[in-house]
Amino acid sequence: MKLFTKISRLHTFGGFALKNGRHGMPEDFATIDDACMLISSRGEILWTGSAPQWHEWALSKTPTWRNRIKKISLNGCEVLPAFVECHTHLLYLGSRAGEFERRNRGESYLSIGSSGGGIRLTVQTTARASEHELETAIVDRLQSLVRQGVTTVEVKTGYAGTIAEERRHLALLVKLQQKKSNRNPRLVITCLAAHSIPDGETEESWLKKVEGLLPFVKKIGARLDIFIEQGAFSLRGGESLLTQAIAKGIPVVVHADQLTRSGGTALGVRLKASSVEHVIEVGKEEITALAKSQTVAVLLPAADLYSRLAYPRAREMIDAGVRVGLATDHNPGSSPALDVALVGVLARTMMQMTLPEVYAAYTTNAAVALGLGERLGVLSEGRSADFLVLKPKRGLDDLFYEIGPDRSHSAIAQVWRSGTRID
Ligand code: NIG
Ligand code: FE
Repeated sequence: MKLFTKISRLHTFGGFALKNGRHGMPEDFATIDDACMLISSRGEILWTGSAPQWHEWALSKTPTWRNRIKKISLNGCEVLPAFVECHTHLLYLGSRAGEFERRNRGESYLSIGSSGGGIRLTVQTTARASEHELETAIVDRLQSLVRQGVTTVEVKTGYAGTIAEERRHLALLVKLQQKKSNRNPRLVITCLAAHSIPDGETEESWLKKVEGLLPFVKKIGARLDIFIEQGAFSLRGGESLLTQAIAKGIPVVVHADQLTRSGGTALGVRLKASSVEHVIEVGKEEITALAKSQTVAVLLPAADLYSRLAYPRAREMIDAGVRVGLATDHNPGSSPALDVALVGVLARTMMQMTLPEVYAAYTTNAAVALGLGERLGVLSEGRSADFLVLKPKRGLDDLFYEIGPDRSHSAIAQVWRSGTRID
């Protein structure tokens, strides 16, 4: 057991969980002053409270029990839950910088995609990469996220043009997920084989093949996502694939209403998807439906910045009672940003989210979006000890504020995943 002592302020975020991640307020940080936190050898939180409470509690235990505790002083620093990055496309090789210039000169994402660029281009460059190259690239990206305080990362596939290639990508992610004693974040794998229709396939023929892959997706414990959009997959095709996945017990999520109002959000809510992601082109009906549901709306403002799209109406959603999550959507096309701070800053400036709402979105709500709401996002008994220690005299105000090299996460001193220090 490890006892972390001399925590000047332990921000448990307990209030966010109590309110199901809706309407986050400053008091929901549920901060304990002059705190201690006890962690089991398996990396679970056993106890949190103030130092005087600890002394009282520990006295009720036997000396043998107390002797098993290793004390770690945090020297008066603040502690908060680690971040959960719940939407990424980290597994790819190759740049799409040329396309970025074309988009900035007026070409649309959809027209670049339909003329052989976009996702299809990344499918080609990724197919040429060896397993070693792919692994090196993704580990480098994962390590960058760890330095920013992220201990859990969702990774979607989505750059495979054949089922064999899709299996290669999924297998690599499983290998990384199972690697013992590493300093990588915990991985949540999502199969996004239905990202674009590969050359030589029709929507129908490709979705049939993806259906055939569902037993494997289930076997490896992955989730399923689909891009429902003009030029990608239709609402009808999406509904059919998602329904089959649900019937097999596979958790589903949807890339929904990013470029056009194509019905993905409403479908996701109806099918009780864990999350619907992007959620830009929606009206009041979708927002009301989301507010009444358990589905998290994962908003991806870095993609909106790069793609010059409207920002999602976070203020309206949160005020209506929607659970909002935030993520980078890192990918080589619509969001080359791998920057948690930038996402939070855009949420605060362009989407009028308050700082507590941003924290809830990057911890509690992101964990719920990944089906890990009982384990992550809050520092309370029975949950995983995934937390950040800030530098002396730094507090919650110091994150989601600065951006830029070496600045955005300069307030973070230590990153712990399941009771093990990984940065
Ligand atoms: O989330 N919208 C679809 N998928 C990605 C973009 C992927 C790409 O352009 O390579 C997104 O924005
Ligand atoms: Fe995405």
